[in-house]
Amino acid sequence: MSFGKSRKIYEEGIKYIPGGVNSPVRAFKSVNTAPVFIKKGYKSKIEDEDGNTYIDYIGSWGPAILGHSNEELMEGIEDIIKDGLSFGLPTKIEVDMAKLMVESYPAIDMVRMVNSGTEATMSAIRVARGYTGRNKIVKFEGCYHGHSDSLLVKSGSGTITYGIPTSLGVPEEIVKNTIVCRYNDIEDLEQTFEKYGKDIAAVIVEPVAGNMGLVPATPEFLKTLREITTKYDSVLIFDEVITGFRIAYGGASEVYKIEPDMACFGKIIGGGFPVGAYGGKKEIMEMVSPIGGVYQAGTLSGNPLAMHMGYKNLKLLQRDKNIYHKMEEMAIKLEKGIADNIKKTGVNATIVRFKNMLTLFFGEGSFNNYDDVQRCDTSLYAKYFKEMLNRGIMLPPAQFECMFLSAAHTDEDLEYTIKANYDALKAIK
Ligand SMILES: Cc1ncc(COP(=O)(O)O)c(C=O)c1O
Repeated sequence: MSFGKSRKIYEEGIKYIPGGVNSPVRAFKSVNTAPVFIKKGYKSKIEDEDGNTYIDYIGSWGPAILGHSNEELMEGIEDIIKDGLSFGLPTKIEVDMAKLMVESYPAIDMVRMVNSGTEATMSAIRVARGYTGRNKIVKFEGCYHGHSDSLLVKSGSGTITYGIPTSLGVPEEIVKNTIVCRYNDIEDLEQTFEKYGKDIAAVIVEPVAGNMGLVPATPEFLKTLREITTKYDSVLIFDEVITGFRIAYGGASEVYKIEPDMACFGKIIGGGFPVGAYGGKKEIMEMVSPIGGVYQAGTLSGNPLAMHMGYKNLKLLQRDKNIYHKMEEMAIKLEKGIADNIKKTGVNATIVRFKNMLTLFFGEGSFNNYDDVQRCDTSLYAKYFKEMLNRGIMLPPAQFECMFLSAAHTDEDLEYTIKANYDALKAIK
């Protein structure tokens, strides 16, 4: 495979963009190689600037759940564009989209559209604080909720800890109100609430964590979270930016049968456009400006083109009742194939799957929290990634991310991937 054109663009890019990319993971730094630049995508495949094609398991980190350039999704896009791109005034499609989201996700009565997942979680936290009149929030180590200051924290030593900024530029005074707990650890959660419960405005959680590799919450953990936040009148926020409309049409709330007080969305609800949303119970959402005292706004929020595409994406997912089942069946096939290959090659690795998401961890044992995933051999993942890339498979360019299946993947894609996985595992052993 030749990457000459990608390399050239990258060299040019690093002069003008920090790291040559507009989001860090795209730099392929974790897998010790230079990024490839993508030119186009069709169904389950993407093609780079050099003409190399890949079976894509990133899917724009989730939005391309119907595959790239889905014909039904793209149909009529010119007509929408012809009517104008943005008005800064309300449009009907925004109301249609809000109605569809509220009907699709029973836990929320109202929703506000924003432009990214980061904006959604940041705003939800502000609303929860405004609603409860409290300042402290709880997040879990290894969960990522975008890059707003109060959520860019990691755990200090010990279990119940105040956060330490994970980034330069985040003042300690801001994250001092963020408590970091261990994912899937009920005892830690209970102790935290015993100590600080009356001051906790909200708990934000990825109900299926996708940002430390794939680590699903146990049902008991989420159940306890629901009970304890109810007991202390704290707002439970499900960050469904990845899981919403992905692991089921109704997201993790549907799968776990738990209703949060608020939920955040992104990725799929934009159909490939930059969109986020946060929603919640009526009395909470009525805190939001202009009816309430919590300010939150956006020039391009509810952009008509983005709303049309997001609305269509959701409608297409809603229409085909079998679509989630089909994606899960494909993921199961991949999981089985990879598990067999691990056995045959003897590589120290574990495949984890939840619904249509997977992570191949280069380590053994169970993966329930951030400490567990830290056992993985990230340099082995880097080698594996390159072997797979050279065989025409685009995996997440970092160990602590997920593979996403789309409805456009085919049996041949899966068979080819399983074979490539075998060869790649053999090559790195
Ligand atoms: C669970 C979760 N929440 C929030 C975000 C932030 O979304 P965005 O990148 O659109 O700002 C992400 C991004 O990957 C995410 O995975």
